[in-house]
Parts: sequence; C-alpha cells; structure tokens
Amino acid sequence: MKISSNLEILPPELSIIVPVFNEKGNIEKLIELVAATLTDVAWEIIFVDDDSPDGTANHVKAYAAKDRRVRCIRRVGRRGLSGATIEGMLSSSARYVAVMDGDLQHDERVLIKMLALIRSPSVDMVIATRERDGSSIPGLTGQRSFISNFGKLLSRLVIKTDVNDPMSGFFMVRREIVEEVAPKLATEGFKILADILASSSKKLSIRETPYVFRERHDGESKLDARVAFDYIGFLFHHLTGRLVPIRFFLFGLVGAFGVIVHLTALRFYLSIMPSWGFELSQTLATFTAMASNFILNNQLTYRDRRIKGLQLISGFLIFALSCSIGIIANIGIAQLIYSDGQVWWLAGLAGAITGSVFNYVTSGLFVWRKK
Ligand code: GDD
Ligand code: MN
Repeated sequence: MKISSNLEILPPELSIIVPVFNEKGNIEKLIELVAATLTDVAWEIIFVDDDSPDGTANHVKAYAAKDRRVRCIRRVGRRGLSGATIEGMLSSSARYVAVMDGDLQHDERVLIKMLALIRSPSVDMVIATRERDGSSIPGLTGQRSFISNFGKLLSRLVIKTDVNDPMSGFFMVRREIVEEVAPKLATEGFKILADILASSSKKLSIRETPYVFRERHDGESKLDARVAFDYIGFLFHHLTGRLVPIRFFLFGLVGAFGVIVHLTALRFYLSIMPSWGFELSQTLATFTAMASNFILNNQLTYRDRRIKGLQLISGFLIFALSCSIGIIANIGIAQLIYSDGQVWWLAGLAGAITGSVFNYVTSGLFVWRKK
C-alpha cells in the first residue's frame, strides 16, 4: 500500500476549513489542488456552506461520498463568513486547523510551508500574508485595497500583536487556541482572523509567510464596500471590551444618520410646503427618517437576514410601530431622570439609549427574525 493511501485512513493532523457560498464551480479544482499538494500529510477538508442556491453543498457531498477526507457542513437559515468559519473549526478534532477561501485565490501550496512552521511547538499560528506589489495587493480592487490598508492601521487599536495582514482569510492555527477563544468570537462579519487575534487571552506566537493572492477562479466575490461598516463595528466592539455587539453599533450608526435625514427632510418640507405647518412637516420628516432607517438597516445591519418583497411592507409597519413605542419609552425615561434633578443632557441621553435598545431588541425579534 502506498504511503498516501495509509494517510487517507489516519485521523487528520490538519483540518482545512473552507467557508463557501455559491462556489460550486471551484470545489472540484480546490480538492484536486489540495490533494496534489498535501501528499505526505493526513488532512481533511471541511466545506462550510450556508445553503447556497447554486447547490454547492450537494456538490461537495457528492465528493465526500467518494473520499473520506472531504466533509461538508450545510448550515440553514444563516449567513456569514465568520460564523461559518467558526463552526467549521469547531467541528475539527485535528491538531491544526487552517482556514482558506474556496475560490482558489489562496495558494494551496503555502499550506505545506505553514504546516512545517506550526509543527514547531513554539508557534501558535501562521498567517499567509498577501504579497504586496508596491502598496497594493494584486487580486484586490483599488477600493478594497484601500480598505485593507486603512483597516490594518486601525486594527492596531485592538490587536496587540504586530501582524502584516490581520484581514487575511488564510491562516493556520493550533486547534486548542480556537477552542479557547471560540466563545468570545463574533459570528457576524468577515474578520475572523482579526477577531481571534483581538480575543485571545494569551499573546500568540505568530509566523507569517507571504504568497501571491490570485484572481478568483469562478463565480464572484461576496464581500463589498459594506465590509467597511462591519469593520468599524468590530473595532468598536473590541474597544468597549466586547460589551457593545457589532450589530448594535451598526444599528446606532444608522439611527444617528436618521437624525440627519430627519432634519434635512424637515427643512425641505417646511420650505417647499409652508402651508403644511410645522406639525405635519415634523410628522412627515419622522416617517421619512423611519423609512430611511428601515432601508439602511435592511441593507447593512441585518443584511444577512435581509427581507424582500411583500415582507418589506409588513416589516416596515412593525418597524414603525416599534420606533413609536421606543419614542414613548425614550421620553418617559428622560422625563423621569430629569425630574429626579439630573442635568438635561444626561436625561436626554438616557432616554435616547433606552429608546434605541428597545428598537434594537424589537427589530431583531419581530422584523429581522433569525430564521
Ligand atoms: N459559508 C459562507 N457564508 N461562506 C461565505 C460567505 C457566507 O456568508 N461569504 C463569503 N463566503 C466564502 C466565499 O464563498 C469564499 O470561499 C470565501 O468565503 C471568501 O469570500 P470572497 O467573497 O471570495 O471574499 P474576497 O475574496 O472578496 O475577500 C478576501 O479578502 C478579505 C480581506 O480583504 C477573503 O480572503 C476574506 O476572507 C478576507 O477577509
Ligand atoms: Mn475571494
């Protein structure tokens, strides 16, 4: 029997976690390339699919039925790169876990180098760092490259270890480290490596190995400019000692923007329709701001649970109702605190926070429900 077939029945030393969404056209090639590279290693590859409409999960399972090194986790009713990756890592019992993209942008040959480095007991994690061509990374668009550079700079606020590419989606880590930090990790968003670095209670010993970030093989990128908002939420989450959830931060950001929308709309209605009077203009401005908040929350804060079609109408009605109750709670609390002799801004702030938390909770429960 060849060594490689022996390795196929040994428990894996390395689990490769591949989060996938609509990557059907890349699965076969990725498995082939990984198998051709890791000939002397006991490995397994775990695809974590969020119920892709293109049938990625079925496709992977057809391979898994023929090869025990291939596994598939099909998640239903959930979306998110970080959450999928965490679940994949936690399903492993190997000594090391690697995370890589399913679109062949990550050079699988680097896995060998990463494994050689992490086998040294003094190394906790190896990050594959995208090689820069001047200051940008080939394979990343200008806008994404800017976000990546800027993000790296900001990451210094919450990540104590100095790493070159904290946004990398390609790394290898001792499984025990993942087991330790897993309960602290955020499932929303895409910044899983940065989250592990910022959440680990011990200082990790890290090695970095450069590689060339390739062009995507098939399909299209799932990440867009909105990842920048997630990232700001992520930083805030860590700066508050993980007290403020990423989603609440985004909800608050949308709410703050809503105040600007409200004032702009009020000014507009007052100037174009003076005959309406203040009260009607104020009411219309309130609805305009609610509608804008609703749309932005649907696109940004809850984009992983985005509602569509007719649901938008019922969703907006429930959202408007919850905002109205939130305003009553806001005024009630502010009044109570103010009459207790507190300064106006403290009373106002307490009211605003109460109203926002109320809106946040009811929106999550009734409008953007977990499926
Ligand atoms: N299960 C699951 N659920 N997988 C997802 C989801 C999701 O919601 N969103 C994306 N993926 C998978 C994709 O199918 C792909 O295999 C991998 O995650 C990376 O997604 P891409 O859409 O290809 O990301 P990218 O190439 O634009 O971004 C790369 O650079 C980022 C930093 O700039 C990735 O390497 C990211 O991980 C990295 O953070
Ligand atoms: Mn990609």
